[in-house]
Order: sequence, then structure tokens, then C-alpha cells
Amino acid sequence: MTGTEPAVPLIDTSRPHPARVYDWFLGGKDNYPVDEELGRRITAMQGGDAPRHARANRRFMARATRAVVRETGIRQFLDVGSGIPTEPNLHQVAQSVAPDARVVYVDNDPIVLAHAEALLSGTPQGATGYVQADAREPERILERAATVLDFDRPVALSLIALLHFIADDDGAHDLVDTLVGALAPGSCLVLSALTADFDPENVHRGVAAYAASGVTLVARSHAETGQFFEGLALLEPGIVSLSDWRPDADENGEKEGPVSLYGAVGLKR
Ligand SMILES: C[S@@+](CC[C@H](N)C(=O)[O-])C[C@H]1O[C@@H](n2cnc3c(N)ncnc32)[C@H](O)[C@@H]1O
Repeated sequence: MTGTEPAVPLIDTSRPHPARVYDWFLGGKDNYPVDEELGRRITAMQGGDAPRHARANRRFMARATRAVVRETGIRQFLDVGSGIPTEPNLHQVAQSVAPDARVVYVDNDPIVLAHAEALLSGTPQGATGYVQADAREPERILERAATVLDFDRPVALSLIALLHFIADDDGAHDLVDTLVGALAPGSCLVLSALTADFDPENVHRGVAAYAASGVTLVARSHAETGQFFEGLALLEPGIVSLSDWRPDADENGEKEGPVSLYGAVGLKR
């Protein structure tokens, strides 16, 4: 752990929060009626697709994490916008391939902090930590994460389903630039983020429903998503719908259908 966090901030159950709505999509129990209500509305609006997208996003996280460990040799992860613990968590995926992997999770939602213990039990050879911070405070994140991660060595920065909650004029690019800028050569950026490129009508309806509940949601085009990877070398197959990022069959032997999130991994040389 990166040290005892200060007093737990209050959990606001009067309006939906992204981490809890996402937990509801994934069938978790760490959500409140207000989150379930928005989750159900979005799901009904999209013909039941939102939970499938959430599950596909988790599987992308696992595929990309395994690929990073196997292909780049990276053993350190900084996972910003980690979400409420959901098995397999990123450190479990990374440590299943490399038991000495070190992972720091970061989130700003008090409910994630309340459940952070579940993120901290990894292998004896590796290490995990949790930092309660806003992604828009990248310097603070780097300072706190340095108690677990060695930033002189390569780190994989995971921004999985985070950046669509942060608008460009709210610092999305600044945080990526600052975090990627602090990483050693050989590091990488693993990202998934909402797009309206494939299914504009449904995605715009979903964005409007979140906005009506007071939650910012930004859908970015392929070119806009690509801006986060400027100066990085994309691993194959580049920036694609995350169901097309090195797909594997699910436990029933079925391939995933199209998903309205881009996924990509870029290497810092
Ligand atoms: C959709 S969940 C994704 C969780 C996990 N990364 C995954 O893909 O399965 C988005 C997470 O980002 C967090 N988040 C949103 N805005 C944030 C911010 N400004 N700073 C830190 N975390 C943020 C939310 O609290 C939530 O846990």
C-alpha cells in the first residue's frame, strides 16, 4: 500500500457515479439505486448492449495487459481510473504472467477507496498500491505512485475507460501528456475510450442520458483518440474497436460483436 489514506470522503448516493454505474453493468453489488436506475435506462436505450460493452472492456484490459507483459517485458503498471475491484483485477492478470509485477491503482471515487483492500492482495514477489487522487492531478499521482513504482524503468500507463469522463477542456490531454512524459523509454500507454464512430445514434443517446444525470461523457473519433498516442508507436493492430484488438473467443467459443470503444497500446521509444 502507498500509505494510509486520509479520512474516507463521503459517498454521495443522491446522484449516479461512473464507477458505480459501471459496477452495475458488470453485475457487481457496489452500487446504489440511483446508479442502477441510470444503468437500466442506458441498457434499455441501447437494446441491452451496455453490459456487453462493459464486459468487453474488461476483457480488452486483460488481453492488453497480458500482451504488454509478454511482448514488452514491462513489469510495472499505473492504472488510473481503476474502478471498483472486479476479478480478475489488473494486478491478477499481470501477476499471472509475471508474478513480480508491481501495480498502482488510482481512482477519485470514494467507493473505490472503500473497496481498495481487494486491490492490494497480490503475489509475495510483486507489489500493489492504491492512490486516492483525481486523474487531473497527474503530478500528485506520480509522486504518490513512486513509493511502489520505479519511474526510471518502463511503466505501462493504463487509462481504461477513463478518458471519456474527462473533456479536452477539463485536462484530458494535459494529464496524458504529463503522465506519459514522466515515463521512461520502453514504457507504454494502454487506453480504451468511448467513440460514436460505429453507432452514433445510440452513443449520443447514452451521452445525453449521462449528461442529464450530471455526468460528463465524451465520445471521441478515431482521429481524436489518436491524438493521445502522438509520439508513441502503436502496437498491432493500432486503434480499433476494442473487440477487434487481438480478439480471442470467449468461454463459449464466441467472438465479441462490435463495441463502441476504441482500444490501443502505444510504445514510448
Ligand atoms: C468505467 S470505470 C472503468 C474502470 C476500469 N478502468 C475498467 O475499465 O474496468 C471509470 C473509472 O474512472 C474513474 N474516474 C472518472 N473520472 C476520474 C477522475 N477525474 N480521476 C480519477 N478517476 C476517475 C471512475 O471513478 C471509475 O472508477
